[in-house]
Amino acid sequence: MQIAIVILAAGKGTRLKSKRAKVLHQIGGKTLLQHVVDAASQVVPPHDIFAIVGHQAENVQASVQSRGIRFVLQEQQCGTGHALQCAERATRGYEHVIVLSGDVPLLRPETIIALRDFHMQEHPAMTILSANVDHPEGYGRIVRKHPGKPEVTAIVEQKSLRSGQEKIHEINSGIYAFRRETLYDFINDLSDENPHKELYLTDMARILSRAGERVVAMNAADPVEILGANTIPEMMDLDRAMRMEIARRLMLNGVVIQRPGTVVIDSTVDVGPDTIIEPYAQLLGATRIGSNCRIRSFSVLEDAILDDHVTVRQSCVITNSHIGPGAILGPFAHVRPGCFIGENAHVGNFVETKQVRMGKGSKANHLTYLGDAEIGAGCNIGAGTITCNYDGQLKHRTVIGDGVFIGSDSTLVAPLVIGNGAYVAAASCITEDVPEDALALGRPQQTVKQGWAARRRAQLESRKVAG
Ligand code: UD1
Ligand code: CA
Repeated sequence: MQIAIVILAAGKGTRLKSKRAKVLHQIGGKTLLQHVVDAASQVVPPHDIFAIVGHQAENVQASVQSRGIRFVLQEQQCGTGHALQCAERATRGYEHVIVLSGDVPLLRPETIIALRDFHMQEHPAMTILSANVDHPEGYGRIVRKHPGKPEVTAIVEQKSLRSGQEKIHEINSGIYAFRRETLYDFINDLSDENPHKELYLTDMARILSRAGERVVAMNAADPVEILGANTIPEMMDLDRAMRMEIARRLMLNGVVIQRPGTVVIDSTVDVGPDTIIEPYAQLLGATRIGSNCRIRSFSVLEDAILDDHVTVRQSCVITNSHIGPGAILGPFAHVRPGCFIGENAHVGNFVETKQVRMGKGSKANHLTYLGDAEIGAGCNIGAGTITCNYDGQLKHRTVIGDGVFIGSDSTLVAPLVIGNGAYVAAASCITEDVPEDALALGRPQQTVKQGWAARRRAQLESRKVAG
């Protein structure tokens, strides 16, 4: 049984009013097309999947290139029927063709499999995936030969509905299975005599049925899956539906999501059991969170790896970094790309880190910038410490050993090495390496003028009296 899956993705998406091709818009953290390709890949191997590309073909192709699928160019987009005409050569040798729509992203692999199995059982020339919905406006409608029987005589597009047909609530999902040979025997009978002057793939239902071929429809179990995204509001509806589903899946795996309607979690994210996610958190991209963590409100994690027992307090931004077990971050910490924060380490409020390796149990609790730095275990980085990593042209590294104490308000001018167990006095400007166990003082010596303040007050007082 040789099955090809063809994904229609060449259209512009005029109704979106966007410069970006429709299938490149994102919901749930992936583009529409990536969702469809990923579902298809669960049903057939990637080299049996063909995406029809046309509008912004290069970008569309690039967005799913890594999936190993194949592409067919539809240079001019003359309709969904024309798109399938373009795929004739590419699909030669396959017995059946399943057609998916690049703008129907909630479709689950199980539903594609159900359509395939129905098609195989019924042996028709065309099987249409349909659904009964409350608001069928805008969709093609299924005209059945007899109510309750699978046979279909036609699909009628919204603009061509005849009186009475607007009452049909069974819609065309734009997803089909065809016996390939029969499809291509008749596909050139399509005509563009319709309001859009396009070749509609939907017309194949009438053409095949009139030719005496069997055309059937299979009702989708869950109509939500086959909703299309033609406008931004529709797309955001799908985004919400998808994210609710993601949250549900995580909750069923033991994650506590306190207000699932407020969080934004991408479909690519994984979270361990007993982790608590507070309202308005965002977990994006390749983020992986262990068990027993707490992600407090308004924190945004993107491509972040968190081991178990990590606390991310309110309003943190963590990007492309790894946080070790038991670490505590924030509130208001900014962990920029390339950081590794060690076990039980603390990165406190208004602390920014970039390309930093921080050892076990080290703490930078307040108002600090650490960039291009390696910090050993058990260090205390005082409030207001700044690594001066940039000389205007190049970035330089600061290397701090284990058990180092950096006093508050210190500036560490890189390149710099501070040895194990060293102390840096508060408010120092350190420009040279500090050896192990040494104390470095880099600040002007304090001068104390005895009685100065009292004398000044007396002086001011006497002027007031004179005035
Ligand atoms: C289509 C169906 C409609 C169905 C609906 C379900 C037709 C004529 N109508 O309408 O019956 O209810 O889907 O969502 O098919 N595309 C190409 N090349 C083209 C034109 C479109 O690849 O020349 C692609 C688009 O990128 C899109 C898909 O085909 O991914 C569907 O096209 P779209 O214009 O969105 O069709 P609908 O109007 O939604
Ligand atoms: Ca559509």
